[in-house]
Order: sequence, then structure tokens, then C-alpha cells
Amino acid sequence: MANIRLDPEETERLLGFGPERKKTRRELCVVCSAAVAVITVAIGLTAVWVSVSLAYADSGKRNVILMISDGFGPASETFARTYKQYINKLEYNYVSPLDKILVGSSRTRSSDSLVTDSAAGATAFSCAIKTYNSAIGVNPKKVPCGTVLESAKHFGLATGLVVTSRITDATPASFSAHVVHREMESDIAVQQIGDNPLGRQVDLIIGGGRCFFLPNHTEGSCRIDERDLIKESKKREFKFFSTRQEFDDLEPAKDKLPLLGLFTLDHMSYEIDRDPIQEPSLKEMSEKALKFLESATSNSDKGFFLVIEGSRIDMAAHVNDPATHVHEILAYHDTISLVKKYVDEHPGTVMISVSDHETGGLSLARQVSSEYPDYLWYPEPITRVKNSSYILSQALVSYQNKDRKEYIKGIIRDGLGIEDFEDYDISWLNENRTQMEYEIFLANMTSFRAQLGWATHGHSAIDVNLYAHGQNTDILRGNHENTDIGDFIAEYLNLDLDFITNKLNSNNDTFHQVTDSTHFHVDRLSHHHGFISDDN
Ligand SMILES: *[C@@H]1O[C@H](CO)[C@@H](O)[C@H](O)[C@H]1NC(C)=O
Ligand SMILES: *[C@@H]1O[C@H](CO)[C@@H](O)[C@H](O)[C@H]1NC(C)=O
Ligand SMILES: *[C@@H]1O[C@H](CO)[C@@H](O)[C@H](O)[C@H]1NC(C)=O
Ligand SMILES: *[C@@H]1O[C@H](CO)[C@@H](O)[C@H](O)[C@H]1NC(C)=O
Ligand SMILES: *[C@@H]1O[C@H](CO)[C@@H](O)[C@H](O)[C@H]1NC(C)=O
Repeated sequence: MANIRLDPEETERLLGFGPERKKTRRELCVVCSAAVAVITVAIGLTAVWVSVSLAYADSGKRNVILMISDGFGPASETFARTYKQYINKLEYNYVSPLDKILVGSSRTRSSDSLVTDSAAGATAFSCAIKTYNSAIGVNPKKVPCGTVLESAKHFGLATGLVVTSRITDATPASFSAHVVHREMESDIAVQQIGDNPLGRQVDLIIGGGRCFFLPNHTEGSCRIDERDLIKESKKREFKFFSTRQEFDDLEPAKDKLPLLGLFTLDHMSYEIDRDPIQEPSLKEMSEKALKFLESATSNSDKGFFLVIEGSRIDMAAHVNDPATHVHEILAYHDTISLVKKYVDEHPGTVMISVSDHETGGLSLARQVSSEYPDYLWYPEPITRVKNSSYILSQALVSYQNKDRKEYIKGIIRDGLGIEDFEDYDISWLNENRTQMEYEIFLANMTSFRAQLGWATHGHSAIDVNLYAHGQNTDILRGNHENTDIGDFIAEYLNLDLDFITNKLNSNNDTFHQVTDSTHFHVDRLSHHHGFISDDN
């Protein structure tokens, strides 16, 4: 898992502008001025065009929906598209909801590595700066940086975060908290409910990760201290909910922001395992969020800023589990369709969809021998999988009865839909191993039969696809640094990130404790999870 570490001078040389964002903003402004010049010329050209563009430019109210597909590289999009074509018997030229809005690509490196993690990746979007891997809303010098979400809030927009991971996980945290290391999730939760120098910044929070909000002496808690953040959130006016029923009953007509909804102690279930009676889908959560944010801003000339993350696309790729990965992506596609429709119906709304990085080094078709190959990959074995390898590996760890070998065969037949397993597979799985070893082995049984290859259990450095829909998004065409996404949002919503950075860094001892590296501690939950499912 060793990344190439670079010293600061080398970083500055390679990045061309040093770790801070100054030049990116300037560069983007050059793009902006160029775009403005083009628009000015175009205005001179046709009267019809002028009236259309003015109607858009003057609609005043602007919303931004930033969709993040964590750990989703271009091969994963091809995977999802071809899988969908296979199961739905679609034409060869079928275009997915993402394909329709492809505008370019995003370069993902962080300030200290050619391969980013999700923390530095999300901070590039939120603060528009390159920072070090594991940094949450802080710059390479560990100084808090103002985020687009905080700046949007300051200027009177409503704000929201919708995720399928723990809400304290790196991506949502990088918009709503400032800590020196992603594993400080107890501190992240404290800041997310509004206990920070800026006060409450997020009006709507929906996802998993309740364990970091429960006092350490209670069942299911993973906090380091005795604080009851659910109780504290209610004092800070949040309406708290944690069940599907409560979620369904929420209506803007009777309920008001701020809302805090945490369905599970840890991450929400993978889509392939999700029980719809217990947990809503990413699309359903996003639909509810849009309804509330629209309603909360209906009497305002200011819109909203919403982050929606398909958080676990990445985690399934870390263990190289193809069926779980593709179901996460298809759930993300469904959410993209919903948000696209929202953009079409609400001029002034812009959506961007981007990944922080690729995960897994997926290749579609794995040629094993050097003989003349059959150029093929087989979607069929993937259609037979009923459960994530994560759930199946949990079952294997807990089953210790005498008939364990028969139980393992049952898991392979019912869970993976595989009949042609070998004695070797059964005896390998019958040994005492860690859950993650089982998980990776089971996932490989499907990848092998589908002829999919994976190059890594970690992230890779390749550029990821950039998608966008709505006015002004032409600026995003082409190849961009990930920090340009943050700059685009700041420009579009007319934000001032430096103002928030200054506010965050005005003398405040309480706050500086959690951004000081000497105070760094690792929360308990991180140990249970290990690097693969959590290093996303
Ligand atoms: C400093 O931070 C604390 C804790 O979040 C907060 O209660 C207080 O109002 C802040 N003080 C200033 C001067 O910003
Ligand atoms: C809970 O946290 C407090 C510090 O706030 C600590 O003193 C105590 O030992 C912890 N209790 C448990 C059960 O971890
Ligand atoms: C696998 O999924 C099926 C169908 O949803 C379910 O009935 C079964 O209980 C799951 N298996 C495990 C081990 O969770
Ligand atoms: C595997 O571990 C379990 C529990 O730790 C133990 O009961 C069992 O005897 C072990 N089996 C083997 C084959 O070592
Ligand atoms: C995947 O499974 C195949 C078939 O059992 C095996 O040959 C191969 O070594 C496995 N790959 C990994 C990475 O475990």
C-alpha cells in the first residue's frame, strides 16, 4: 500500500503552484474571463440566444448539487453500462444517465502523493486546495480551510449532506469539519452538529454512522467520550430520526430543518444487501433532501448546496467484489437520473458528478494465458450473486458448528450462485481466517468466473470522469485538477472561501485542540474495520 511520498519542494514543482490554491483560482478565472468573452461575443450574435441566456443568468436563485461517486473509475462505468445492457437486453449503443452528461476528466493527486485518499480528494472539492492524504478540511500545514458548504451557509443558502457511509467518514467530513486526521471521527461528529467556531453549518444530514453520536458507555457506541450528541443535536434544534418509518413520515409541511437522520450505527447496508423496510435507498434519501431544501428556500432568493455521495462504490472495489460494486453503481445511476430531472425542472440548478479517485484497478476482461485469447468478459456469474461478500464472510466467521463444510457449500451456492466450486475452495474457507480474507476470497470466486481482473486493493492514480449538467457547466469541459471543482462551485455560487478560512482561524483555543496534531487519537471503530473497508 506504499504511496510515492514527495517532499514539499518536489510537490510545489510538480503541482506548479504549491499546495495552496491561489493559482488554481487565478487559472480558473482566466477560463472564466475567456468564457465571459465568448458569451459576450455570442450575445452580439443572436437576439434569441440573448433572451434565453439572460433568463438563466438573471434567475438569481442558484442551487448546486455535488454528487460524488467514491472510488469509481472509468472502467467501473463501462462495467455498469455493459452489465445493465446484459440484464436488460439493451441495444449496444445504450447510453447510461452518466454517459449523457460526460464533460471531461478530473486529475486526482494530493499534495503528498500521486495517489489520493478520500480525505484529500474531498478537501480538493470542498476547499479547492491540494492537501495531504487523511486531511479533513485542513491545508498541508494543518490549518483549517473554509469549505464551499460553510461559505454557502454564510451567504444564506441551505445546506445538506446525503451519504451511504458513516456521516463522519472522510468525504462528508471534509465539507463539514476540520481535523488533522480522518480517523478523528468523534471530533468530526461534534463539529457536524454545530459545535465549532462557525456554529451549525449543515441543515440536513442523512446517512449512517450513529455510533459516533452515542455516549461511550452505551451499547453500540464508538465514541471516545461520554458526550451524547443526539441529545446535544436536539438542543441545537435538529430533529433526529433513525428509522425508515420516521424517514417516510417526514414532510416539509410539518417538519423543519435542521434534520439529522442516522439509520445505522456503522455504514448503511450495501445496496445488494439493503432491506428496504429498514433503510431507504440513496435515491430516496436524495429525493427527500431535495424536497426539504427546496421548501426551506422557497421564500428566499438564495438556493441550496447539497452533497450526495455514493459512498460505498469504493468499499466494494477495495475488496474487489464485482457484484456489490455494480449494485452500488446502479443505485448511483438511479440517483443521477433523479437529480438530472430536478436540474431540468429548476433552471439555476447545477449538478456535478465526480469521483475522488479510482479504486481497485478494475479491468474488464482478464486474459490469463498468452495463447490466442477469447476477448470476453462474462456478466452472467454476476447476475447470480445474492449477497455482498462482506455479509457472507460475516456468516462464515460466526458459524463454528461441526457441519461447517456443508454450511460453506450452502453459502457459495445460495449467496454466490456458484455450483462449480472445488474441494480446494471449501478447505480454504474451512480454515480459521480473518473476515476480510474470507471476503476477498469469495469476491474473487465471482470475479474469476466473470473474467474480471483487479490490479489492487487500494486506490489508483488514474484520472476519473467528470460529469455535469446545468447552466455554465461548459467551463468544466476538458481535463481538470480536482481543485477546479471546488473553484467552480465557489464561482457559481459567488462564495468567499478565504473569508471562512479567516473566521475559522480567528483565535479560538477550544477549536484548535482538534486541529492540533498533538491531540491526535484514533477512535475505537477504526480498529474493528481494518484498512480495506475503511481506507476509502
Ligand atoms: C470558540 O469555539 C467554541 C467551541 O466550539 C465556541 O463555543 C465559541 O463560541 C468560539 N469562540 C469564538 C470567539 O469564536
Ligand atoms: C468514556 O469516556 C470517558 C472520558 O470522557 C472515560 O473517562 C471513560 O473511561 C470512558 N468509558 C468507557 C466505558 O469507555
Ligand atoms: C442473502 O440474500 C438473500 C436474499 O436477499 C437472503 O434471503 C439471505 O438471508 C442472505 N444471506 C445472508 C447470509 O445474509
Ligand atoms: C476456529 O476458531 C474458533 C473460535 O475462535 C474455534 O472455536 C475453532 O475451534 C477454530 N477452528 C479451528 C479449525 O482451528
Ligand atoms: C482467484 O480464483 C482463481 C480460481 O480459483 C485462482 O486461480 C486465483 O489465484 C484467485 N486469485 C486471487 C487473487 O486470489
